[in-house]
Amino acid sequence: NGCNDKSRGSLIVFEGLDRCGKTSQSGRLVSYLEKKGVPVESWRFPDRSTSVGEMISSYLANKSQLDDQTVHLLFSANRWEKRSLMENKLRSGITLVVDRYSYSGVSFSAAKGLDIEWCKSPERGLLAPDLVVYLDIAPEKAAERGGYGSERYEQLEFQRKVAQQYQTLRDSAWKVIDACLSVDSVEEQIREFYGLFDKAV
Ligand code: TMP
Repeated sequence: NGCNDKSRGSLIVFEGLDRCGKTSQSGRLVSYLEKKGVPVESWRFPDRSTSVGEMISSYLANKSQLDDQTVHLLFSANRWEKRSLMENKLRSGITLVVDRYSYSGVSFSAAKGLDIEWCKSPERGLLAPDLVVYLDIAPEKAAERGGYGSERYEQLEFQRKVAQQYQTLRDSAWKVIDACLSVDSVEEQIREFYGLFDKAV
């Protein structure tokens, strides 16, 4: 991407800790873009609908055990198996708004103590996002939000480590938004970032 080609869709990624509001904000951005007439689709990773995704889902629900390296590679494989479809959609002019991507892959695994360069390696060659919206929330605040569910990673201590890892991954595509602002203010800021980004390409 990044080749000033308006006919191509944009790859917009939402990242942040569990309970930061990614899912609802990415949904709001999709509705906004639809209203503007932008061809857009809402995506998420892990994509639990594939057989790799089912293995991940069972692991997250604590119904199966996998070692850290194995599950890391499954998360990555889950993105790789969608790569060509994503590329085709982008080429045909569809913008993809994706809830979690490689940054989650690297942060969550590195938070377990895996070497970060090892974690990044299977992500190399995946499509690079044009815009990353990072919804910034203190782990303690996220934990207060209606509580965590019962999935494997939804624990305060672990989320603290994930937050630290995310900070090391910030790059030029990132826009950081304070996720503790009201839902409407967060939405407005995201629209502003999208507008600036859209003008720039
Ligand atoms: P979800 O709640 O957004 O469906 O994501 C499920 C969990 O999986 C969440 O705690 C983040 C974690 N995760 C990884 O550990 N690696 C990844 O590559 C992705 C996409 C998510």
